[in-house]
Amino acid sequence: MKLPINSIAHINTLGHIEMEGYDLLDIARKIDGPFYIYFASVIEKQYKRLKALLPTNMDICYAVKANPNREILTLFKTLKSAFDISSGGEFSRCMDAGISPQKISFSGPGKDYKELSEAIRNKLFAISVESRREVDEIIHIADTTASTANVMLRINPTRKPERFSLKMGGLPSQFGIDEETALEIIRMIKKHDLLDLMGIHVFNGTQCLDARAIVENISEMIEIAKRLFLHEGIELRYINLGGGFGIPYYEGDRELNLEEVCNAVKDIIIYTQETSHGLKNTRFILELGRFLVAQSGIYIAKVIDIKISRGKKFIILNGGMNHHLAASGNFGQVLRRNYCMYPLELRDKNRLEKVNIVGPLCTSIDRLASDIQLPVLMIGDYIGIFNSGAYGLTASPILFLLHNLPAEVFVSDEELKIVRATGGIQYETQTIRYSAHQ
Ligand SMILES: Cc1ncc(COP(=O)(O)O)c(C=O)c1O
Repeated sequence: MKLPINSIAHINTLGHIEMEGYDLLDIARKIDGPFYIYFASVIEKQYKRLKALLPTNMDICYAVKANPNREILTLFKTLKSAFDISSGGEFSRCMDAGISPQKISFSGPGKDYKELSEAIRNKLFAISVESRREVDEIIHIADTTASTANVMLRINPTRKPERFSLKMGGLPSQFGIDEETALEIIRMIKKHDLLDLMGIHVFNGTQCLDARAIVENISEMIEIAKRLFLHEGIELRYINLGGGFGIPYYEGDRELNLEEVCNAVKDIIIYTQETSHGLKNTRFILELGRFLVAQSGIYIAKVIDIKISRGKKFIILNGGMNHHLAASGNFGQVLRRNYCMYPLELRDKNRLEKVNIVGPLCTSIDRLASDIQLPVLMIGDYIGIFNSGAYGLTASPILFLLHNLPAEVFVSDEELKIVRATGGIQYETQTIRYSAHQ
């Protein structure tokens, strides 16, 4: 029997699921509790494949939000990737992984004064400014500390990207500065000697599997950069084109044609640099999360109960939406569809049945699969949910019902590390004296 969708894993001669030479059932029996497992080799192959297809003046920037696991960040550091963070917490995690602040850019709505001060003090590669208030505060911090601040302008384009599953630009939105009002902000930044306007950043949408749509989007980003900056006589050192490269999560999804995207992008960049003098020395950035890490990760949980209710079979796992919100279809998906999942041990490949896979939470939305055809399962069996390396643990409501946190396992160089053991959710109480009459 062929595994659906995921071409990286396969079934070995024992009838167990194997990934990168590791028997997942064997690992599951050794690890306590539900867990995520990430394979460094899968990330490395994906990164290197992309890098080899890109023009030399294009850099890859890993979006930390996709998976901030420290081992994954360290791996990207060794691959010489840049990083995009969206909070002070992600910055600390990058510092923990030994990443140089000069490799980090900071985007996201709602950066507060303290986070901006930290970014300036640590001389981050760039802060993507997303509002007038952020520009005002950056100017204030730079002036009061006599520091320079590197900024990029995140633009919310006038046009919506076509055929992206999740659109973040081209609409009324909290992300970026509306293209229509950007000139005023550009002029404001240019007036301040302590602010270095390095370029433009556009992140328009995510989870796109259509090569032509991605190429059209990238070409539109370059046009925006020309419209806004070249007409003002500003030379752009960097254009961060966003990305939105998708992953085939669901049955029927076709893998993104990466060669088609990269060849077209190369042509666009050559043409742009030949025809626009102000962009001759520009470097381009692709900012990607899920495309780089999703396929490296599997979430593994155990069957703890099986019941039939009014003719439907429910397989109840010891972890669900609390650990993996995205697999429950509640993380921005328009339609709930089943992730690719499979028992780690195939006892009888010819006995399939239609089941519903649910987690242990007291909410009906804790459903990981509806009416999925799987080999017959028994209590004690393990199920692996594939393509779970991005927006897994840290994108989930882990405190709901106070179940234990899942473990995180990282596999690299024939070494298997339990980065975080399955753990309880303890309070760390701190009492602050407060007097109303102070
Ligand atoms: C600013 C920014 N960059 C990068 C990403 C990563 O997107 P993806 O994981 O789909 O590549 C996101 C996702 O929301 C984002 O908001």
